[in-house]
Amino acid sequence: MAFNRDVSVALFHSIIRPRKCLDAMAATGARGIRICNEAPGNYRFIINDKDSLACDHIQHNIELNTLENAEVSNADLRCLLAEEIFDYIDLDPFGTPIPFVPSALQGMARKGILAVTATDTASLSGTHPGKCRRRYMANSQRNPFLHESGLRIMIGTIVRMAAQEDKGVTPLLCYYADHYFRLFLRTKDGAGAADGSLEQLGMMSYDRATGERKVGEGKMGPMWLGPLMDREAISNTVVPEGLECPERVRQHFEIWKEELDVPFFYETNEIAAMLKLSPPGREELMEAMRSIGSVSRTNFSPTGFRTDRPLEEVLEAFRSACR
Ligand SMILES: C[S@@+](CC[C@H](N)C(=O)[O-])C[C@H]1O[C@@H](n2cnc3c(N)ncnc32)[C@H](O)[C@@H]1O
Repeated sequence: MAFNRDVSVALFHSIIRPRKCLDAMAATGARGIRICNEAPGNYRFIINDKDSLACDHIQHNIELNTLENAEVSNADLRCLLAEEIFDYIDLDPFGTPIPFVPSALQGMARKGILAVTATDTASLSGTHPGKCRRRYMANSQRNPFLHESGLRIMIGTIVRMAAQEDKGVTPLLCYYADHYFRLFLRTKDGAGAADGSLEQLGMMSYDRATGERKVGEGKMGPMWLGPLMDREAISNTVVPEGLECPERVRQHFEIWKEELDVPFFYETNEIAAMLKLSPPGREELMEAMRSIGSVSRTNFSPTGFRTDRPLEEVLEAFRSACR
């Protein structure tokens, strides 16, 4: 989780400017405490857990770090969010965050940021399609880009839940790492904002035999088909000194800044297996893709790439890189 917290610190440093924050499921309070320590600002952080033993640790850690803008709270987040309003809310449960999303939406200011960690990636990524239907009201399927489709299903579910409350949701930064999904979502009150977010939802299909992806039609979804980040905001993020894993964070931001907004990425091994060829070298592959259009790396996979070209052209360029 060090990387997860590092990214939170980097975003607070550069682009998240809240006044009242809630680390709603804080355990030892490590995330909220690191943010207060490493990203100073004019905000107040309530660090909450329903477990009183966890709260003892949080209190101890606040004192240890002599933090003046952090305070401990020992409540069920659902009670707390029925009474208080925050403009940054962080949910980090064991497993799915969905049961807690309605409370977070209820306790969110008119404009705010909802941060969510989800560790139930298997149900979203096609391993347990029944569970995905029940929990996320969406169809999943195992595929070579399963973490991207899973993440998009998760965003899509929150968009639909928010729309019921006349709230719009757009990604500030959403990613997959180390077997979890992490979402930073901007929320905004208003029927227009809700409608705008709903317009970015849709279905898709993937044909295992041909590799064809159809976006906008198919049985997988509903899911978010818009950008996974606010590119301008992410491009303006400066990675601060003193992080736990600075090199990894720097590399991720470098790729996020260049990553194309084209759903869905291709996996080198997927295409090589389909064409019955040995995968080409990474540089040869990227060069061949550059010769036909725009191409970028992706943080979803070190061997993946995104391109704006149609599948037939991608396959032809792939063959040429193998020659
Ligand atoms: C995965 S841990 C949180 C890890 C922590 N955010 C971190 O970065 O280390 C989940 C925590 O949520 C707390 N929790 C579970 N249900 C809760 C609820 N309804 N309200 C408040 N806290 C809750 C648990 O006590 C547990 O400490």
